[in-house]
Amino acid sequence: MKVIVDTRENIARLAGDLYSELLAQKPDAVLGFATGSTPLDLYGELIARYNAGQLSFSKVKTFNLDEYVGLEPTHDQSYRYFMDKNLFEKIDLDPANVHIPSGVKIDDETIARYEAAIAAAGGIDMQLLGIGHNGHIGFNEPNTPFGSLTHKVTLTDSTIEANSRFFASRDEVPKEAVTMGIRTVMNARRLVLIALGEGKAQIIRDTVYGPVTENVPASVLQLHPDAYIFADTDAAKYL
Ligand code: F6R
Repeated sequence: MKVIVDTRENIARLAGDLYSELLAQKPDAVLGFATGSTPLDLYGELIARYNAGQLSFSKVKTFNLDEYVGLEPTHDQSYRYFMDKNLFEKIDLDPANVHIPSGVKIDDETIARYEAAIAAAGGIDMQLLGIGHNGHIGFNEPNTPFGSLTHKVTLTDSTIEANSRFFASRDEVPKEAVTMGIRTVMNARRLVLIALGEGKAQIIRDTVYGPVTENVPASVLQLHPDAYIFADTDAAKYL
């Protein structure tokens, strides 16, 4: 695990460099993306590099980590909508190459097809991750088996509380989601986890120094052969 501590601005630039290097070597790379507030600076950086003619996503395939159950892709809090507005509509990605779990077709067959689509694309080259205060990656809440594949989950109260900031009220936050599993994430050839702000400091300590345990889902990154953790100085406070 490579732990890099820097300012928020430098993290967007350094993580952006990983995308530039990968796409220079492999223009048709398979990229795993995340939502939430953490990746926004990085997405801004990728858009700026695209606008400057330094990056092209025209051959890239994408797979997102997760989606809320019950939200149509047009709902302004769906992760599909988030990705469209914050990245996909601003770069030269082919919409046919975008994959996000469906929040409305949640039968077992559809969920299994997501996993199969990742395999059919040749696996994910680089998966971006944020981290929940409880250590979740994707929506894999504490005690999700490390062997899990894409599946439907019930969100914990702590996640509903944390995400209520994006909704008009706590009651509007969906109670369930579809997420890549821990094994799906670990199968990616490279992992890039970003943690920003003091609120993530304790869980970043547990992730980096604590035991590898299903109780702290992100601790599994200690077992990945090519995982980066970028933490700003606040999130790295206890390292
Ligand atoms: C988002 C996701 C979540 C978030 C995490 C942190 O697709 O899978 O694991 O990365 O909840 O969210 P923020 O970045 O809003 O603190």
